[in-house]
Amino acid sequence: MLKNKKILVTGSGGQLGKTLQKRFSGKYGFDWIFLPKEKLDIIETKQIQATFKKYNPHFCINCAAFTDVLKSEEQPSIAYKINVEAVKNITRVCNENESILIHISTDYVFDGRKKRPYVENDKANPVNVYGMTKYLGEKHVLENANYGYIVRTSWLYSKNFGYNFYRNILNEASIGNEIKVVSDQYGTPTNTEKVANFILKILASLPKKGIYHCAGDQVMSWYDFAKRIVKENNYSNKIVPIKSNTQGVIRPTYSPLKNTEM
Ligand SMILES: NC(=O)c1ccc[n+]([C@@H]2O[C@H](COP(=O)([O-])OP(=O)(O)OC[C@H]3O[C@@H](n4cnc5c(N)ncnc54)[C@H](OP(=O)(O)O)[C@@H]3O)[C@@H](O)[C@H]2O)c1
Repeated sequence: MLKNKKILVTGSGGQLGKTLQKRFSGKYGFDWIFLPKEKLDIIETKQIQATFKKYNPHFCINCAAFTDVLKSEEQPSIAYKINVEAVKNITRVCNENESILIHISTDYVFDGRKKRPYVENDKANPVNVYGMTKYLGEKHVLENANYGYIVRTSWLYSKNFGYNFYRNILNEASIGNEIKVVSDQYGTPTNTEKVANFILKILASLPKKGIYHCAGDQVMSWYDFAKRIVKENNYSNKIVPIKSNTQGVIRPTYSPLKNTEM
């Protein structure tokens, strides 16, 4: 039934977008269209309309976002433009073209006070600008998309692409330094490969619209995660636990997600 369906992936230059492209390009009977920011700027409504007119996609997977948590505090209007206004544009154009929207969101919509992994219908209460803009974006999709999925993930990393914690620690480990890492924030580190598999399941089964959680299976601190990365790669750096610095931005201290059963 899904054979030859066209799938547009926005923000394909990011770590998740690149993972999807590497995994899915030309595969599973879908016709994949991957567009990085240079080819489709999601702030530009006319560009989105022209892209939909050109490709007429059945699905749009929105991997584009302003993901820098600290810069979002410094440049809230840009974060709002990309994470909220552009998402409104995409939602509208998806509705006009009867396309199904899969929008990626974050554990940072939560305040971190729960102390047990968050489930889909837990109340969002973002504590920083990035979290707030992502929350407003997903809320708009849920309320307005004719057919929309929100896939929330947490502490996303790719071993191959982008700037992320995994690759930063690996880089520091290779230099041979002692590495200081925050030990008082907890999450569920999630490999982009897992999110790719999850998205594929959604595409194949088209479950009911709404919020889905896709995260790693283990709750840990950044410190725990750094120790694992170093061990996994046969380094022996000393990892030193430190307290988080709340200067500039507040982050949820506990934002693991409980996976949605699929
Ligand atoms: N990274 C995490 O830890 C994490 C955790 C939970 C959820 N998420 C969510 O997962 C999704 C994917 O994140 P990611 O880690 O893959 O982020 P990423 O590596 O920062 O990728 C985001 C991509 O979006 C692009 N982009 C920014 N503004 C755009 C615009 N106006 N039009 C088109 N593209 C634009 C960026 O391009 P430029 O870099 O050139 O600006 C970048 O290539 C996002 O929705 C994010 O909120 C991420």
